[in-house]
Amino acid sequence: MLSVVKIGGSILGKGVNSSIVDDVKKIADEQSLSLVHGGGDEVTKIAERLGKKQTFVVSPEGIRSRYTDRETMEIFAMVMAGKINKEIVSTLQRFAVRAIGLSGIDGGIIRAERKKKLVSVGNDGRRRIIDGGYTGRITAINEGLLQAILSEGYVPVVAPVALGSEYEFLNVDGDRAAAYVAGGLKSSRVIFLTNVHGLIIDEKLVPNLTLREAKELIPRIGYGMDKKVLAAVEALQMGVGEAIICSGTAENPISSAISHDHCTVITL
Ligand SMILES: Nc1ncnc2c1ncn2[C@@H]1O[C@H](COP(=O)(O)OP(=O)(O)OP(=O)(O)O)[C@@H](O)[C@H]1O
Ligand SMILES: [Mg+2]
Repeated sequence: MLSVVKIGGSILGKGVNSSIVDDVKKIADEQSLSLVHGGGDEVTKIAERLGKKQTFVVSPEGIRSRYTDRETMEIFAMVMAGKINKEIVSTLQRFAVRAIGLSGIDGGIIRAERKKKLVSVGNDGRRRIIDGGYTGRITAINEGLLQAILSEGYVPVVAPVALGSEYEFLNVDGDRAAAYVAGGLKSSRVIFLTNVHGLIIDEKLVPNLTLREAKELIPRIGYGMDKKVLAAVEALQMGVGEAIICSGTAENPISSAISHDHCTVITL
């Protein structure tokens, strides 16, 4: 049994919190576990400390993403694959989890194609076509390499930086990277740990959704959660058994997610 868990940047302080670490240790002993992480807010913070203001674009589907020019891509790679990834890996090892940090660049774990153009919708509702910058659409996962790492008893920790077709770095969304890793590994489940219990609609936690219901709801969901539901849909379409969105700040958050305790579960 394999679970892919995405650790949201929203719940990362310095590395991962102790309840996640305990749970990773327990689950990695019993079954296989592969981690992917986010960290967009930290990238924004450090970029701005470096004097590089970050801008965001909204697609016609309402999905918000970072506008990634070359300098932003460099900072994104440094922070994601450097600082954040290594903090997680060192914390896990401190608690005796055999963790290995990788980005999508390493061994071509995440291959992507550069988006040539983006459609950006302004505050006035007008659409503009802009250069795609260094954002990528994921095309392939090197599942063989991940399987080899898993079979050695390691927990891979993957940063969402992909390798482009011209060997350039590309910014890919962490939730979608987790979905593709789960799809590539034919994982039983993908779990998104974040700072809320799951999808909230009309102030209530939605416990279950079918793939079709999830797809229909996406336009009504706010920034952050919309990408998780989209990634959940993509994971199910790639054959992952179930997608679970759960709080990563509660006790034993991965075990809770596996037992569907107080979270949003999306299935076919
Ligand atoms: N309908 C909704 N239900 C629940 N949360 C929502 C909803 N709409 C928007 N959100 C927001 O989505 C956020 C979670 O996504 P966000 O991208 O901020 O975190 P993350 O994915 O854990 O971090 P990162 O993107 O850095 O990995 C919540 O904190 C909440 O504010
Ligand atoms: Mg997010």
